[in-house]
Amino acid sequence: MKRQLFAAATLMASLSLAQTAHAAECAVAVDDPFALEAAAIEEIYACIKDELVAGYAKEGDAVASAYRDWTVSSTRPAVAGAHGNRLLYTFANDIAAEQYLKYATEGVNMPVGSVLAKESITISAKKKAAVPGPLFIMTKGEPGSAPETADWVYGGIQPNGQPMKFKQSFCHDCHVAWEAQDMLAYPLEEVRLAN
Ligand code: HEC
Repeated sequence: MKRQLFAAATLMASLSLAQTAHAAECAVAVDDPFALEAAAIEEIYACIKDELVAGYAKEGDAVASAYRDWTVSSTRPAVAGAHGNRLLYTFANDIAAEQYLKYATEGVNMPVGSVLAKESITISAKKKAAVPGPLFIMTKGEPGSAPETADWVYGGIQPNGQPMKFKQSFCHDCHVAWEAQDMLAYPLEEVRLAN
C-alpha cells in the first residue's frame, strides 16, 4: 500500500503541473507539508481560500460554484499523504452530509446524488509558498450506472476552472481500499467534525 501511495502521489503531482500563476503569494516557511502546525495551516487557508474558490468556479462548473455552501467535514485542512501531500479539505452536499460525517467503517452505502468535493493546496518547496491544487470530486450515481467504480464518478477541476482529465481507474484503484466505507477514505481523525 505504501508503495502504491507513493506512485499515486507522484502521478497526482504531475497531474497538476499546469497549475496557473496566481496573484498573491501565500508564503510558507517549511518545505515539508507534514511539518506544518495547525496554526500555520489556518494562516495558509485564510490567505488562499478566496483565490481557491474563485479559480475553481471560473469556468462555471456547477460543483465548484456550490460546494462552499455545503457541510465542511473537518476543523481545518490537513495533510494525509494521499493526493500528492497536499492540504485537503472536504465538503459534503446535503444528500451526502449526514452519512459522510458519521465516518462509519462498515456497510456504508451513500445515497444516490451524494457529492464530496475536496479542496487541495500544494506546498511548493520551490516557491516557498502555498499554491492552489485541484478540486477533487466524487459523485454517487444510480445503481448500475458505473459498475466498475461502485457507481461513483470521479472528477476534478483545476485551479483555473478547467476539468482535469484522468482515467476513472486512476482514482478508484486507490479508493477501493475503503470498500466497506463505500470507497470513502474520510479526513484524518484528528481534524474530523462529526454531526
Ligand atoms: C493513492 C490513493 C488515492 C488516489 C490515487 C486518489 N485518492 Fe482520493 N482520497 C484518498 C485518501 C487517503 C483520502 C482521504 C484523505 C483526506 O481527505 O484527508 C481521499 C479523499 C478523497 C475525497 C473526499 C471523499 C473521501 O474519500 O473521504 C475525494 C472527493 C477524492 N478523494 C477524490 C479523488 C479523485 C477524483 C481521485 C482521482 C483523480 C482520487 N481521489 C485519487 C486517496 C486517494
